[in-house]
Amino acid sequence: MVREIDWAQIVSVATRAPSIHNTQPWRFTATADRLDVFYDRRRALPVVDPSGRQQLISCGMAVAFAEVALRAAGFAVEVELMSDPGHEDHLARLRVTGRARPDGDDRALADAIAQRHTVRAAFEPRAVPAELLDRLEREAGAHGLWFKVITRSEEEVATVFLLSQAEELEQRDPAYVRELESWVRTDPATIDGVPADAVPAGDPRDRPSNWLIRDFAVSSRERHSFRAPQDLDAPPPDVERPTVVLLGTANDHRISWLEAGQGLGRVLLVATTAGLVASPLTQALDWPATRSRLRQRLSLIGHPQMLLRVGYPPPGLELVVTGRRPVGDVLSVEPAC
Ligand SMILES: Cc1cc2nc3c(=O)[nH]c(=O)nc-3n(C[C@H](O)[C@H](O)[C@H](O)COP(=O)(O)O)c2cc1C
Repeated sequence: MVREIDWAQIVSVATRAPSIHNTQPWRFTATADRLDVFYDRRRALPVVDPSGRQQLISCGMAVAFAEVALRAAGFAVEVELMSDPGHEDHLARLRVTGRARPDGDDRALADAIAQRHTVRAAFEPRAVPAELLDRLEREAGAHGLWFKVITRSEEEVATVFLLSQAEELEQRDPAYVRELESWVRTDPATIDGVPADAVPAGDPRDRPSNWLIRDFAVSSRERHSFRAPQDLDAPPPDVERPTVVLLGTANDHRISWLEAGQGLGRVLLVATTAGLVASPLTQALDWPATRSRLRQRLSLIGHPQMLLRVGYPPPGLELVVTGRRPVGDVLSVEPAC
């Protein structure tokens, strides 16, 4: 029999996982030695994510974080995905099988959970070393994900173009804008959604970067407004050149999305232990047309699941900690029978 597990503590760590628009589309039930993870459809994003792909990726990350938390707390754990064919929203079962001494990696990854935050600010102008990218690729590969650094200029041009095209399509879609707005928060004490101050001020199109971050304040801007030319005598701004990686899977089923989330969760934690920060740029993957064009233009074998900007945070950057729903809202603990 396993010593009593503090499920509230484990779930509070698991829910630090990133999720699209910080929707936190998960709920958990726990018994003495088991944690079940469910998709919470009440938090769906029918416009931007009608298939639930990005939300299942988010839930997969929460599964990975729960596993890391359990191992760091000294438990051996087995994870089964979608093991209940009669219950579509039952995503994962983590079964604690006994005690196991955590190693240094388990502890480092667990510590990284509280340190990881999505960083959309411009990164330091220094490249991520190749050995570190190799390490992230190995971590991704160990979880069935392929990992492609966008380096060749024609791949960069195609990806940047599709990203901008997708962002443009989204901004023209009133249903998309309404849905996005409903997840943007101005109250700093918020428990879900994307806080306005987690997003750099100003129009993302004005940033000196090819990589357009998602515009969370699109409705407050004048569409196609004429923008005054910059001061022509001013020195040109430094162009941000982040490392951008595309991660994907061989298949594109619900279970593949969940597995992708598990792998991505681990990749983000390993990146955090190495001092890196990241932000997803998923606009081009939101829409079947731009997603499949990305596959063609980059000759991908398999299915892209996540585009990530990765780099070093600028000195003095204040990290914005996004809210989470209280554990009591997402966890029910069932008495042992
Ligand atoms: C599947 C997925 C897609 C996401 N897409 C974007 C995106 O396109 N642009 C962006 O700025 N953030 C994106 N995010 C980041 C979320 O907004 C972020 O994880 C959430 O607000 C919680 O903040 P945190 O990661 O700092 O904890 C995405 C996250 C996930 C899991």
